[in-house]
Amino acid sequence: MTNKIKTIDEMAAFCKRKGFVYPNSEIYGGIAGFFDYGPYGSEVKNNLKQDWWKTFVQQRDDVVGIDGSIITHPTVWVASGHAGSFADIMVTCSNPKCKTKVRADQYIEEKLNFPADGMKAETINAVFAENDLRCPECGEKFLPANDFNLMFTTQVGPEEGSDSMAYLRPETAQLMFTNFRLVVENSRLKLPFGIAQMGKAFRNEISPRGFLFRCREFEQMEIEYFIHPDANNKCPYIDEILNHKMLYVDAKMQDTEGENLPEEKASMKQLLDKGIIMTQWHAYWLSIVHEWYTNLGATPDNFRIRQHVATEKSHYALDTWDLEYHFPFGWKELVGIANRTDFDLKQHIEYSKNDLSLFDEETKTKIIPHVVAEPSLGVDRSFLVFMIDAYNDDQERGNIVLKLHPKLAPVKVGVFPLVNKLHDEAMEIYNDLKKSFIAKYDKSGSVGRRYARADEIGTPYCVTVDFDTKEKGLVTIRDRDTTKQIVVKLDELKEVLDKLLKEEIEFEKAGEPVKAKGE
Ligand code: GAP
Repeated sequence: MTNKIKTIDEMAAFCKRKGFVYPNSEIYGGIAGFFDYGPYGSEVKNNLKQDWWKTFVQQRDDVVGIDGSIITHPTVWVASGHAGSFADIMVTCSNPKCKTKVRADQYIEEKLNFPADGMKAETINAVFAENDLRCPECGEKFLPANDFNLMFTTQVGPEEGSDSMAYLRPETAQLMFTNFRLVVENSRLKLPFGIAQMGKAFRNEISPRGFLFRCREFEQMEIEYFIHPDANNKCPYIDEILNHKMLYVDAKMQDTEGENLPEEKASMKQLLDKGIIMTQWHAYWLSIVHEWYTNLGATPDNFRIRQHVATEKSHYALDTWDLEYHFPFGWKELVGIANRTDFDLKQHIEYSKNDLSLFDEETKTKIIPHVVAEPSLGVDRSFLVFMIDAYNDDQERGNIVLKLHPKLAPVKVGVFPLVNKLHDEAMEIYNDLKKSFIAKYDKSGSVGRRYARADEIGTPYCVTVDFDTKEKGLVTIRDRDTTKQIVVKLDELKEVLDKLLKEEIEFEKAGEPVKAKGE
């Protein structure tokens, strides 16, 4: 029997214990909302970022990438609307000795169990009063709710003052708009096309929580996908995804005052035909982002798409669907895919006085392209999803088995000498393998203990060097997920491992199966 992870705290403890993620500056008492990735976590995080970049940028002819700076001209954030309205609603405890601050919508969700995302301050005040919601620390009433802007500010240059104030970016997106003209010209892009970027973003979250789920410093992987304003339903790739099925909850199925209807399953064709998803492009991006997660091993039905209700949409969005994941604390946003229309380009045209339009050869007129979909993935939330999905507490083995996809696993191959006497032979094999794969040599403790250590960090294959290696040129490979073993020739080991890691051959056909006791 295997148990899945039950609480997010259990995952945080596991990540710390096994070297995936640490609370930041813990030796000084830590700082809420900041985390450091350890030796194995940084590998997994890099692997998922590389795979996203390869899938959505390098392997596509219609997407190019950029790498913009974190600090940018502050007017960018005025134009984008973030300086004015990128805020959450906060309530502060009325007790002057306490003054605890909580994010109002989250507190309502927690206490009253109904979604409050996007609720206005007025409604929040009424909900707090009606339900007598009080400070979790001292039990006093709260002061009336107020907006709290989530942008971190900093100082650029030696002079302090409002002239040198700048923001740390709260999303990577805006750099795709400010560099729009140069990128289009340099890459000779023709609509439809996307501009992608991954990197750090910062939000001064009122109550960071849920381990990596809500941090103050995090990473995003984003694409702004631009189309001709009249081409909402002219997606050339639509046939690829029409049969793609997903769990969904549209805006009508959510009623913030009463019971929400449970998610249903439908194909993209059905959702488009019924007008539930309004544009082909939205359906396309929702599907291929979902596929990206499942191709990397995540369970398809642990995801659903949910349409934003009118009150929760961002200031720039015409329609937004989130790809949600079933976290241990419920369905929560993993990816936001907004239709940003021409909002951002128009704003930057107005504020910068630069022409960011394109010339449409067909109509011989200038057009401002629309961002029909902005797939915006959180790196840290994605990391969490892959870890949660891969985590199996195997009662029979007596250890955690982290069934990470080989592409994500921080170590691909473990190499063990059966006994210490075989150290030299095993080291020689290890030194050769590590030129091709991330490998780890382990000679301490029993072989069983070494397998358990490898299982816990998700190592897909372990190679054991025994006396047959020396005498017959044979080694044993053990499969993490099944514990089955095969024997292969030493001079074919690299090729076999390569094919196994690329999932090009089945494990039991890759060598001579070792019979389990009693078989
Ligand atoms: N450019 C659009 C945008 O930033 P968003 O829904 O605010 O949209 C996109 O953020 C994604 O970034 C989220 O779906 C989530 O994965 C990640 N994200 C946002 N805030 C986060 C936070 N405080 N901690 C960790 N990840 C976060």
